[in-house]
Amino acid sequence: MNPADFYTGIVADLYGPLKSFVQDPEPYAAFVQEAGSPALELGCGDGDPLLELRRRGLDVEGVDASADMLDRCRRRAREQGVDVVVHHQRMEALDLPRRYRAIFLAGPTFNLLPDDSTALAALRGIRDHLAVGGTALVPLFVPSPTPAEQIGRVRTATADDGAELRVSMLSEERSDSTRTQTAVLRYERYRDGESTVVDRPWVLHWYTRSGFEGLAAAAGLTVVSALEAPDASDLQFQLRAAD
Ligand SMILES: C[S@@+](CC[C@H](N)C(=O)[O-])C[C@H]1O[C@@H](n2cnc3c(N)ncnc32)[C@H](O)[C@@H]1O
Repeated sequence: MNPADFYTGIVADLYGPLKSFVQDPEPYAAFVQEAGSPALELGCGDGDPLLELRRRGLDVEGVDASADMLDRCRRRAREQGVDVVVHHQRMEALDLPRRYRAIFLAGPTFNLLPDDSTALAALRGIRDHLAVGGTALVPLFVPSPTPAEQIGRVRTATADDGAELRVSMLSEERSDSTRTQTAVLRYERYRDGESTVVDRPWVLHWYTRSGFEGLAAAAGLTVVSALEAPDASDLQFQLRAAD
C-alpha cells in the first residue's frame, strides 16, 4: 500500500470516532491572517482545522490524498453549514489552478511522506503553488519509539451506527538510517455478529534540521524561520520562494 492511501476504507471510518486529539485552530488562523489569502491546507483530512477556518470566513481550501477522508470532510461541512472547497490530490503531485499566499499543514502531517524524495516532490509542489510573496508553514516532529507496554493496548470507541471500533498497535520497527518508524496498526469493527479486521503499516519519516533545510533549498524554497522545541523533537518551518 502506498503510504498516501493509509487513511482510506476502515481507517477513514474509524478516524473520527477514535480521534484522540483535535488540532487547535488558533495558530493556523493566525498564520493565514498574517500570510494572507487564499490559503491551502495540505492533508486536511476530515476537516480539522479547515472547517473552523472557513467558519471564521477565511479563504482556505483543502487537499488530501484520501477520497474517503474528503467525503467525511464534505459531509461535516454540510452538517455545519460551512462551504468548503477540497481537492483530491497527493501533496507530492500537487497540480492546482490557483496560487496561494499561505500553504500549511496542521500538525506534523508532512512526516507521513515516507522518504526524502517524496518530501522533495511535495516541497517543489508547495514552491510552485505559492503566490508571489507567499509563505508555507511546515510543522515536523521526531517520533519517539512507542513504549513496549503500549504495544498491543486496544483503544475502543462506538460508531454512530453502534458498531464497536478498536485500534491497536501490533508491532513497530525503527530505522535511524532511513529515519523511518513503521508501526503495524490493527483496525477492527464489530456489529451484529459481523467483523472487519484490517492490519496496515503506518510510516513516519523524520528529518534533521539541516537535512530538511537542504531539501527546501533543492525545491527552491528559503527558510524564513525555524521554531525548535527545547528537546528538538518539534520543528516548525516557515518557507518562502527563493529569489
Ligand atoms: C493525521 S490526518 C490529519 C487530518 C486533519 N488535518 C486532522 O488534523 O484531523 C493526515 C491526513 O493527511 C493525508 N495524507 C497523508 N499522506 C498524504 C499525501 N501524500 N498527500 C496528501 N494528503 C496526505 C491523509 O489522507 C490524512 O487525511
